[in-house]
Amino acid sequence: MNADERRELWEGLCAVEDYLGGGPKKARALPDFSAPEAPEESLGTIAAEVRACRACRLCDTRKNAVPGQGPSSPLAMVVGEGPGAEEDSSGLPFVGPAGKLLDKMLASIGLSREDNCFIANVVKCRPPLNRDPADDEREACLGYLERQIALLRPKAILCVGRVAAGALLGTADGVGRLRGAWRDFGGTPLLVTYHPSALLRDESYKRPAWEDLKLFRERL
Ligand code: URA
Repeated sequence: MNADERRELWEGLCAVEDYLGGGPKKARALPDFSAPEAPEESLGTIAAEVRACRACRLCDTRKNAVPGQGPSSPLAMVVGEGPGAEEDSSGLPFVGPAGKLLDKMLASIGLSREDNCFIANVVKCRPPLNRDPADDEREACLGYLERQIALLRPKAILCVGRVAAGALLGTADGVGRLRGAWRDFGGTPLLVTYHPSALLRDESYKRPAWEDLKLFRERL
């Protein structure tokens, strides 16, 4: 809506208010019709905010913020912990060794970041030396993820690893306790499974992770 249209709408609403109020109001402050409107929420506006974000100390050491990647109407969403070195360099989530495994895991159940699955992280900037994000860093960043989930409305969320599960479910429980059963995130079904980097470290996680992926696929 341009400035003229906004002024016209305002004058119309004033006329209705005057009519319902039984006569003209004495004085009304004239709004600034040329003030820019807030842009409509989109993946692009959230990503732009993330790239400009200085809400916590992680912005001082990042090369690139990593807002997320995937289609704007995904079937599913994957939530990881935070960018590592390759993600920090490229600005894209899950592009290192764990990301390559994640892509294979997703492909095995018909999902991909190109077609139907959005990939995001709890924190959008790399914690130095890949340490766990601190509580205040997680808190500062969580709003972006919540807005992405609200906008994308995936049919289900796959939460990989303890940090992502802790952030979305508000629990300190480990993946071993949380996996294998559907949880809820604000009305969206959420399943927890092992982080792909855990699978790279310890092969014994592969079988339970595959069971989780099958459960996830059934839901979709
Ligand atoms: N690990 C994560 O949790 N997220 C990434 O984007 C990469 C590695």
